[in-house]
Amino acid sequence: MSFSYTQENTIKIASLMQRYPQKKALILPMLWLAQKQDGYINEGAMTYISELTEMPYMHVYSVATFYTMFKLQKSQKRVIEVCRTLSCELNGSETIKKHLVENYSKDYEIVEVECMGACGGAPMCTLDGKYLENLTSAKIDEVLHAN
Ligand code: FES
Repeated sequence: MSFSYTQENTIKIASLMQRYPQKKALILPMLWLAQKQDGYINEGAMTYISELTEMPYMHVYSVATFYTMFKLQKSQKRVIEVCRTLSCELNGSETIKKHLVENYSKDYEIVEVECMGACGGAPMCTLDGKYLENLTSAKIDEVLHAN
């Protein structure tokens, strides 16, 4: 499976290579860029990353499969990721998730994920990668009906 980064992402990777003295450190940001670019990470992207970082393919694959936020298959639906970690859980993420599953499963892929670093805006989720914070069921309805 072939893969190539866009010119913009190639420039970003070149910049990252200056920042990180060890090529291994490029794996995570390169996986992020591949996913952001294509919506998922395919074998071609992992092979490319493996070659560029001089790390075994299985190492790149193990990183990509360890983190729940990386997707190895393209979703046929728009994706909502609901954080289920402590701050979000204590502020109602379970209620938000139930609301989403009951009302939006037909049109959206709803995925539970771990902390996305926006705990101050708990409960939060992402819609196609865009952060939505301080959510209520009414607020998520408003956002999804506007999109
Ligand atoms: S706990 Fe949900 S973003 Fe950190």
